[in-house]
Amino acid sequence: MKALVLAGGSGTRLRPITHTSAKQLVPVANKPVLFYGLEAIAETGIQEVGLVVGDTQPEIEAAVGDGSAFGLQVTYLRQSAPLGLAHGVLIARDFLGDEDFVMYLGDNFIVGGIGALVDRFAARRPAAQILLTRVGDPTQFGVAELDGLGRVVGLEEKPARPKSDLALVGVYLFTPAVHAAVAELKPSWRGELEITDAIQWLIEAGMAVDSSVITGYWKDTGNVTDMLEVNRLVLEALEPRAEGLVDEASELVGRVVVEAGAVVERSRLVGPVIVGPGTRVADSYIGPFTSVGADCLVSGSELEYSIVMPGASLTGVGRIESSLIGHHVEVTASLNTPKAHRLVLGDHSKVRIGT
Ligand code: DAU
Repeated sequence: MKALVLAGGSGTRLRPITHTSAKQLVPVANKPVLFYGLEAIAETGIQEVGLVVGDTQPEIEAAVGDGSAFGLQVTYLRQSAPLGLAHGVLIARDFLGDEDFVMYLGDNFIVGGIGALVDRFAARRPAAQILLTRVGDPTQFGVAELDGLGRVVGLEEKPARPKSDLALVGVYLFTPAVHAAVAELKPSWRGELEITDAIQWLIEAGMAVDSSVITGYWKDTGNVTDMLEVNRLVLEALEPRAEGLVDEASELVGRVVVEAGAVVERSRLVGPVIVGPGTRVADSYIGPFTSVGADCLVSGSELEYSIVMPGASLTGVGRIESSLIGHHVEVTASLNTPKAHRLVLGDHSKVRIGT
């Protein structure tokens, strides 16, 4: 069995972070979200992974390499444009050959691994096996309709009028039967070859499509609110560890990780918090559910429930909450009068200023 991981696409909902970098590399507890998926695949014993990439291939390749760090062999499959999840399967045809495969969306986050799912699929080998979960707003997802016996009778991608609240989770298992379906597809209303339509095709062709409903934790990390929630969840399980320098005037409360090479001075860190290597925290407060990446500076500031990406600096800026701060961003206090906000913001930035 092989794995196909989709890490192309454009990530419009995470702009401006994803103007310059891949959404699958946004860090959760200082580790790219994509790595959690690759680890889940490696745990099942699968070794051969096709990684579908787009314009952000150089960055993804720099992070994942040949996959050996995960115990995987990664083959990069370049997609000319984000033409849909089923298009990813189409361009992976040669790589996949006639093997069964698990398809994993690189921006999905699932707690508890996929071992049980893969075992169940291998034992029964339906044409497709999908995973569903109940969501508040089904219009944002692929949605399944089940009959009285729990069998999938229909699937629709981002329907205006959903027939249920059961959304497709981004892990699918297929036999090679899916290739005939994918070959027949036409672009949807949003111009993409939809994997949802391929599964619908299999149902209409009378093939077996199994589903299971998960009640555990799952998030599509496509937007900032979900990213911060996933970060919170992963930080909850943090094992405290202070390997960097923490001075006597500082206090670490609860589950705090200070990586080797980080410095904490005259500050109070209330966990769960992780501070990356090479980062300096001085005269600051960092509150629960915050991860600060490598080589950052947090000075004279307060930070809570946020993700700060590598190389960013926050100096003398008061309190920052529920924020996602990109690579090498600088936020500083303005000392001049009149008191004014001076901003240099990239396209599609979002700033909420307390007045
Ligand atoms: O997260 C679950 C949802 O994922 C499902 O409920 C939907 O049925 C499914 O279509 C998908 O919806 P999204 O609109 O959220 O997919 P997104 O465009 O965010 O792409 C998911 C991943 O696949 C992401 O890592 C980018 C990658 N991708 C996407 C497209 C369209 C590719 O590699 N190539 C592509 O052409």
